[in-house]
Amino acid sequence: MRVLVLTGAGVSAESGIPTFRGKDGYWRNLDPTKLATPEAFARDPKLVWEWYRERRQRIRNARPNAAHEAIARLAHQTDEFLLVTQNVDDLHARAGVAAEKMVQIHGDIFVTRCSRCEFERHEYEHPPSPRLRWTSEQEQEQEHEGVVPKCPDCDALVRPGVVWFGEQLSRNELERVEDFLDGGACDIVIVAGTTATFGYIIDWALRGNRDGAELIEVNPEETPLSRFATRLVREPAAIALPRIVSQIIRR
Ligand code: OAD
Repeated sequence: MRVLVLTGAGVSAESGIPTFRGKDGYWRNLDPTKLATPEAFARDPKLVWEWYRERRQRIRNARPNAAHEAIARLAHQTDEFLLVTQNVDDLHARAGVAAEKMVQIHGDIFVTRCSRCEFERHEYEHPPSPRLRWTSEQEQEQEHEGVVPKCPDCDALVRPGVVWFGEQLSRNELERVEDFLDGGACDIVIVAGTTATFGYIIDWALRGNRDGAELIEVNPEETPLSRFATRLVREPAAIALPRIVSQIIRR
């Protein structure tokens, strides 16, 4: 079986990570879709770093939920599988989806990279067990609190290794998605917890589904993708996905 899964912020909502466009998404009365931009970073890098540090902290303290776990089960049980997530958190990885079966198309919040040169570092490894939370010993960022970190190589500002609005997606990661889509039609495409605001998400879902695959949307709300879905599941992901995955695995 060949399966493509596309996820967004809604899948991590039940782990306590606020979505971008939901009512809890605002931070200090600021709209996250305006903070996650090169313009916001150029204007106020300290503010943008504060927001990302808080998000990193929240993610470290969170645990994968039943939706992440169901997707990891599906990854293990299917012959050909790709998860394309817009989420920059590490909850899919901590639930057990292997790096080679997952593309983080909007980057990884735990990467810090230079805004000018090629310097890049991973701030954290995943905790030793997928179900563990980070402990305070592992929270190494305090020393940077309130400062805007600089590149050790060229002294320019460093930034989180995520894709901001208006920026190009990584060519490497794009190629991995394209290779999977070119590798054959899917039997099942699942799109969960995303507003599908970006055209490429809709495009990939439809290309995966080109030979009449099942296109399942899991989202309590309607999205631009809903009219193409062969099955609409208007439930939270942590409730719907364990059931959907069990049905698929039993086939
Ligand atoms: P959004 O915040 O736009 O959308 C979250 C979606 O999840 C909405 O459609 C909700 O209806 C749905 N949702 C909420 N709770 C849910 C639950 N428990 N189960 C299932 N669905 C639920 O997040 P994304 O679509 O991921 O990009 O946003 C896409 C991108 O826009 C993000 O990766 C980020 C953002 O700005 C960049 O920063 C480039």
